[in-house]
Amino acid sequence: MSSSLLFLLLLAPASTLEFRYHSNGEIQQYLMQVNASNPDIAHLYSIGTTGRGQQLWVLALGVSARRHTVGVPEFKYVANMHGNEVLGRVLLLQLVEDLVRGYRSNEAWTLRLLGGTRVHVLPTMNPDGFDDADTDCVFSQGRFNSNGADLNRGFPDAFAALRQQNVEPEVRAVIDWLKTETFVLSANLHGGALVASYPYDNSNGGPELVGRASITPDDDVFVHLAKVYSYSHAWMSRGDMCKENRPFQDGIINGYQWYPLQGGMQDFNYVWAQCLELTLELSCCKFPPPEELPALWMDNKKALLAYIQQVHLGVKGRVFDGSGVPVENAVVEVGGRQDLCPFRTNQYGEYYRLLLPGNYTFTVEYPDHEVLTETINVPYGPDRFSAKRHDFLLRRLASLTGLAPAKPTQADLTPTCNHRSTLEGGGARAAPTRGLLTVGLSFLVVLRSLAD
Ligand SMILES: *[C@@H]1O[C@H](CO)[C@@H](O)[C@H](O)[C@H]1NC(C)=O
Ligand SMILES: *[C@@H]1O[C@H](CO)[C@@H](O)[C@H](O)[C@H]1NC(C)=O
Ligand SMILES: [Zn+2]
Repeated sequence: MSSSLLFLLLLAPASTLEFRYHSNGEIQQYLMQVNASNPDIAHLYSIGTTGRGQQLWVLALGVSARRHTVGVPEFKYVANMHGNEVLGRVLLLQLVEDLVRGYRSNEAWTLRLLGGTRVHVLPTMNPDGFDDADTDCVFSQGRFNSNGADLNRGFPDAFAALRQQNVEPEVRAVIDWLKTETFVLSANLHGGALVASYPYDNSNGGPELVGRASITPDDDVFVHLAKVYSYSHAWMSRGDMCKENRPFQDGIINGYQWYPLQGGMQDFNYVWAQCLELTLELSCCKFPPPEELPALWMDNKKALLAYIQQVHLGVKGRVFDGSGVPVENAVVEVGGRQDLCPFRTNQYGEYYRLLLPGNYTFTVEYPDHEVLTETINVPYGPDRFSAKRHDFLLRRLASLTGLAPAKPTQADLTPTCNHRSTLEGGGARAAPTRGLLTVGLSFLVVLRSLAD
């Protein structure tokens, strides 16, 4: 072999993903190729179709990519829900490429991550909007779906009395997706600013409103998660990198404090699906020039990987009834964290609770069983690629021994918050509404609605 040919071979690895904006068709082709050549760690599936009939493809990566494994948390990244905010599409394809390459070359970090985590990637939630998008940095051409709807305003909202009449097909697909897997942690990638924003995005002036922020019971965890991203990013934590925006302390901000919005995806994930989600604004320009893409990937790569690892915060395990059977819909609450909808076990009897290191009192409730209270010492899980494991063993109420055990009925479950029935409802009808948004608030929403 001539030395020049050898040189060329060294320069050209088997396949490299180019740094450019791939069309929706090319993304589909790429995902199919990754799926086909990595059957041991990849699983490609569609969560539905858009208004114009394009598939919403999700690639799952992990050693059991095809199905959930008890004890393995489900993580997801969603990009391009605003069709003209396009960097996330590129970043998520590069992320897929990087994880597959890392696994194939036996990199210790990637082997550990994919060995105990299932990572789902939806590179475009709004491919129709992308097809309409202008390459302008700030305009909103292409932001909306084919019906002209803003998908990040189209989810049922726990704080709004207004009912969502028409659920857009892309929103419907995501709502249904949340029913099929117990997602634990997620991020939703946007452009037009540089900041990690965390729930809530909305408020109706109840106890969640603290100063100018709308604070969740898991605020400490959300602030930590947002800082993991901003400080792992090349310079997001400096907080003042886009001229048009105000400085963001540490490169993070409470969504409502930045600007209130109704029907957002991150609040829906948290309130109704028990999945902690951030909104990541990753480029000042919504449609960065293609030549900037390699540098933008390098700015975000470490942060995208570090954020996935955070799915291993806290505690995970199963709840077993008095006969040793894992039970669905047991309420697992942590002292001092009164969620609008209490966290419940899934169909495998599992719960996942993201918590910072410390001691926490858990209370577990299930019909016909004694309320169980236990204090758990929580270490920092991400370094070990696993949350602390802790199962709860319930005892049947003594007065009921000998009787047939009862499954929880609809009436036993908080009717407003049984996330299964709510998700199936397709609207905000069961939201724990506590009042109407003020007129002034709605006005603010309109004013700032195009900033991200
Ligand atoms: C993914 O690859 C598997 C294994 O080759 C194949 O059976 C499946 O049809 C592929 N899925 C898609 C959506 O192409
Ligand atoms: C948690 O409790 C243990 C004893 O059970 C104690 O040693 C430890 O200091 C506590 N940790 C914190 C952070 O309070
Ligand atoms: Zn956006």
